[in-house]
Amino acid sequence: MRPEITNPPITGDLQVPHEVQTIFKNSCYDCHSNETNLTWYDKIVPASWLVAQHIKDGRSGLNFSNWDQLSPADQKAKLWESVNQVTLGAMPLSSYTLAHPKAKLSPQDIKVLKDYIWNLRVNNMPQDTSKIKALKAQSDYFKKAEVQAEVPKAPNGIAYIADYKNWAVISTTQRVDNGTMRIIYGNDIAIKAIKNKQISPWPDGAILAKAAYDEIEDAEGNISQGAFKQVEFMIKDHNKYKTTNGWGFSRFKTPQLEPYGKNADFTIECMRCHQPMEKNDHVFTLPILQ
Ligand code: HEC
Ligand code: HEC
Repeated sequence: MRPEITNPPITGDLQVPHEVQTIFKNSCYDCHSNETNLTWYDKIVPASWLVAQHIKDGRSGLNFSNWDQLSPADQKAKLWESVNQVTLGAMPLSSYTLAHPKAKLSPQDIKVLKDYIWNLRVNNMPQDTSKIKALKAQSDYFKKAEVQAEVPKAPNGIAYIADYKNWAVISTTQRVDNGTMRIIYGNDIAIKAIKNKQISPWPDGAILAKAAYDEIEDAEGNISQGAFKQVEFMIKDHNKYKTTNGWGFSRFKTPQLEPYGKNADFTIECMRCHQPMEKNDHVFTLPILQ
């Protein structure tokens, strides 16, 4: 029996320069649009059942055919995320490129996407140094205030860990679509695991933290850390967090460190986006192994 795949109507297609769209059409549209080519997957029966599921899942997270239903900020975020998934090698899915080698992106394709996303960059350059000073003062204030404040737990019972700022920095990334800077930290167990090349899987007790700040650029182009946005944690315990891929997820937003999520199901959102990195124990950041 043939798995059910239909192409619902296109409400508003992705609006980007032609060369960018060609790349997405060629490599992503079979799973992320309502223009799935209904012939290619027939060739790989019995894998087609799996593929039908991939198209369903792919469309639900990102659908270039319903582009008009996203706000301009969400459109930018989805594009940024797409380029990120591609450069990290998570997309297109390797099970797909095996059967469909033409969908693989060339280094030139990747360059086109990166250049495009770079040009979408928000200009966060403050007009004057007094604004930079004010932002710095604000972030210093919150750092101090946080020590005294009692932070409520995340809906899945995970407590805030104030100490992360003292951990070693594993990497920093800039998110050009919204002008934020991300710093990824690891606790001692995580750092030891990196040194011993034991990160697949990561050992129990390893904790990774990702903090996001506004990025501020002064007139000389120096980039520094602006206001705090949020911090996220992934705590490894393969037994305790069995139902969430062995990781305990939590997120605390705004300088007031408000726990994110209405209920414990917020972790579904985290897992979904980290899913393409399954082979890397669901971790995006690839620390440089010395
Ligand atoms: C064979 C199907 C397939 C192809 C082709 C494919 N993807 Fe995906 N994509 C998925 C699936 C399935 C998911 C959901 C996560 C998972 O289960 O791995 C996903 C998730 C994503 C996500 C996360 C969406 C979210 O917010 O939940 C992004 C971004 C993404 N893909 C971008 C791309 C880009 C860009 C391309 C082309 C270069 C691409 N994908 C090609 C199947 C595919
Ligand atoms: C829209 C996709 C997306 C969602 C949703 C998401 N993440 Fe991530 N996460 C990423 C990406 C991409 C990185 C890699 C670092 C970067 O570029 O920002 C990352 C990195 C991380 C890291 C650092 C370790 C690593 O994997 O590199 C932590 C910790 C983390 N995320 C926690 C969470 C938590 C907790 C949630 C849910 C509340 C969550 N993430 C939801 C995309 C996502």
